[in-house]
Amino acid sequence: MGRTAALLAATTALSTLGSFWAKEAKAFRLPMYDTSLLEGVSNKLPIPPILEPSREVEGVIEFDIECQWGEVEFLPGLKTQTMGMNSPYLGPLIPLVKGKYYRFNFYNNLPEQTAIHWHGMHVPPEHDGGVHQAFDPGESWHPEFEVKNNEGVYLYHTHHMHRTAEEAYYGLAGGIVVLDPELADLQIPKGLGVDDFPIVIQDKSFHADGSLQYDLDIPTMLLGHRGDVILVNGVVNPYIEATTTFVKLRLVPVGGARYWCFKFEDGRPFYQLTTDGGYMEKPVKLTEIPMTPAERAEIVVEVQPGETLNLISVPWEQNHEYIRDLAELMSTPERTYLDDSQTLKILEIRAADELEQSPPLPERLLETLVMPDEANAVREREFVIEMDMMDMNENPGDARTARFSQALKINGKTFDKDRIDEYCMVGDTEIWAFTNASSMPHNMHLHDLSFKILDRNGNPPEPYEMGLKDTFNMDPGDTVRVVCEFKDYVHETLPYMYHCHILEHEDQGMMGQFAVVGAPDRAS
Ligand code: C2O
Ligand code: CU
Ligand code: CU
Repeated sequence: MGRTAALLAATTALSTLGSFWAKEAKAFRLPMYDTSLLEGVSNKLPIPPILEPSREVEGVIEFDIECQWGEVEFLPGLKTQTMGMNSPYLGPLIPLVKGKYYRFNFYNNLPEQTAIHWHGMHVPPEHDGGVHQAFDPGESWHPEFEVKNNEGVYLYHTHHMHRTAEEAYYGLAGGIVVLDPELADLQIPKGLGVDDFPIVIQDKSFHADGSLQYDLDIPTMLLGHRGDVILVNGVVNPYIEATTTFVKLRLVPVGGARYWCFKFEDGRPFYQLTTDGGYMEKPVKLTEIPMTPAERAEIVVEVQPGETLNLISVPWEQNHEYIRDLAELMSTPERTYLDDSQTLKILEIRAADELEQSPPLPERLLETLVMPDEANAVREREFVIEMDMMDMNENPGDARTARFSQALKINGKTFDKDRIDEYCMVGDTEIWAFTNASSMPHNMHLHDLSFKILDRNGNPPEPYEMGLKDTFNMDPGDTVRVVCEFKDYVHETLPYMYHCHILEHEDQGMMGQFAVVGAPDRAS
């Protein structure tokens, strides 16, 4: 379907919902925060606290994490209600060491059920924290696993069915740093808060009273929520003071929908060291890096003494007219829906007048990057992603669960917790081909696996995705093929999830499930 036709279909479908929408529209009429009030504000970038283990019993390291409500002053003089883990907003950085065994004690002190998922981590399905492991207010959840992932940055975040987008937006997400003792000698910036900075990015919108604006109305379900205030590690307008010639930024966009394209304002090159699943074979020289929600990348940039350098996000280059047009179409005088076309300031780097010389980056980061090999693939599965607006539910009993209940599909099906869509044999390698048959971009994420992107529309993956991935973008019409290996962790009845990581789409059912089955002795 062409763009105009698609837009026309959308408009028609939406106008049939017009009265419903108009009724809803009246509900959210709190005035919005005037972002010009933030001009002149600047904050030193806080470094998220590193979670300390609570105890170690017989080789099992234990962490205690409490999911809670919080209150934060993001905007000068105003209080915002938030959610967080062991802190009012977001969670601490969890330090994990490859090869060690961990147990986590999650306590739910929220007034609602939640689930906490290990995004990017290879863990048994019963500890994965998907929708099957939700736990109630006042209850606790105790996942445990050995860390098998490569050194890199991973995430933990809410996976509460129909509530993931909103809970993550309120702050139920945090970063994980996996360290591999075998890579301890790698000469890259590693001084946390000195030359190595976690950059956890969310975009928010605020009401004038400081409360978060989040309305799960039809446009938001379609487009996902985008905000006009950027928070980095929980503050607006952040800066860091560089004291070394190389600065490493661990980019972790945890917004629900916004697509970013990070670059330095003067266009200078930088080096990418990692993809979602850890180091690439060699540093990759780039001038910009597009990133979608929940993708991660560590980058290193060189700074000059005394200069000020801005990390910005520029409009996503690829085809986003659909989002732009739809956002424009749905915006009203009192309510603006955003697209990905804003240029946003993310971080200011203020270099000291004298800088310590950093050692040169290594030529190679890994001797060999081990990735699933397509030569071993025993089958290819196809997944078609669709958004069929004609299937929107005009009269949902509950807007959260049923509005798009038939509209967002993978292979013609909307998510069903009790249906396992794919059975995979442990020990097998497979090619999964995802086709975006809708008019807007989606970013697919597979739980449990770190995979290799084989090709996009028959072409090799982009330079910035030439490593292990767990999340990737698909523009309208794209077919992306990935190679995955089901290494171990067999369970006949408990599946892992795969879904669009635009969280409103996941919540509305653009999600399926795969189980890894078979005799454990087939495990590789
Ligand atoms: Cu980060 Cu199921 O997701
Ligand atoms: Cu995940
Ligand atoms: Cu999507």
